[in-house]
Amino acid sequence: MSSEQRGHTMTQGGQTMLIAQISDLHIQSEGKNKDLIKPDRHLAQCVAALNALNPRPDLVVVTGDLAERGTKQEYLILKPLLDALHIPYLVIPGNHDSVENLRAVFDDHSYLDTGTPFIQYTAESWPLRIVALDTTVPMHGHGELCADRLKWLADTLAQQTDRPTLILMHHPPFETGIKLMDELGLLKGREAFVDIIAPYRNIERVLCGHLHRTIVCRVGNTIASTCPGTAHQIVLDLADPAELHFNFEPPGYHLHHYGASGLVTHHAVIGDFPGPYPF
Ligand SMILES: [Fe+2]
Ligand SMILES: [Fe+2]
Repeated sequence: MSSEQRGHTMTQGGQTMLIAQISDLHIQSEGKNKDLIKPDRHLAQCVAALNALNPRPDLVVVTGDLAERGTKQEYLILKPLLDALHIPYLVIPGNHDSVENLRAVFDDHSYLDTGTPFIQYTAESWPLRIVALDTTVPMHGHGELCADRLKWLADTLAQQTDRPTLILMHHPPFETGIKLMDELGLLKGREAFVDIIAPYRNIERVLCGHLHRTIVCRVGNTIASTCPGTAHQIVLDLADPAELHFNFEPPGYHLHHYGASGLVTHHAVIGDFPGPYPF
């Protein structure tokens, strides 16, 4: 089947790509909200929805908080659920993850073995170059980019200055206005990150998780966005609540299509809804 038949728009160089982004799966084997949140069931529904997409995405990226507590047991639940994807997938860690246990269970994902404490890597075999950053701080909810990680980013971006590039990172590099989440945001290295990426014109997007809802912000000369969760969402509250709340607004994902207009992002929801009806 040709690209045109699959509905892809050709770019000048003839390259197209369709990427699904999912985030914040929070697979748990135990926990205080275990009876309320069924992350494994939600993820199975998400995977079925992605597998049913036509055209089928070329790649799925999973932007962190894969597990709730980061135990091996949780990753052993997660792995077969993600392996049910009929699409290649890449993962990055979030603040709920354990780099050590993630590597141990996802041992066939060789890109996770970076030889450093951090899971930072590039994926080079698709039209869009993927540059994955690790914003996690062990045992903490907030994010950081230390000097080592920022240097790696600067060196990595300098290697290919023309190729369209996506940056993946769990904590978004901007304040969202959801105050209690901003207190758990990218608290160190954010300005340096922006300084590093700002000169580049080939960074199509910075794809993030952590916020369990869609939020978009210009950062440097590109756009950064956060993705819905596959299970629970964080309540949209721009006041100053004493506590953070989650709810069961429809879970979703982002579908990023790279084509004639660059990267176009669709917010998609997962679930059964009335319709479709003809106009
Ligand atoms: Fe999360
Ligand atoms: Fe998170």
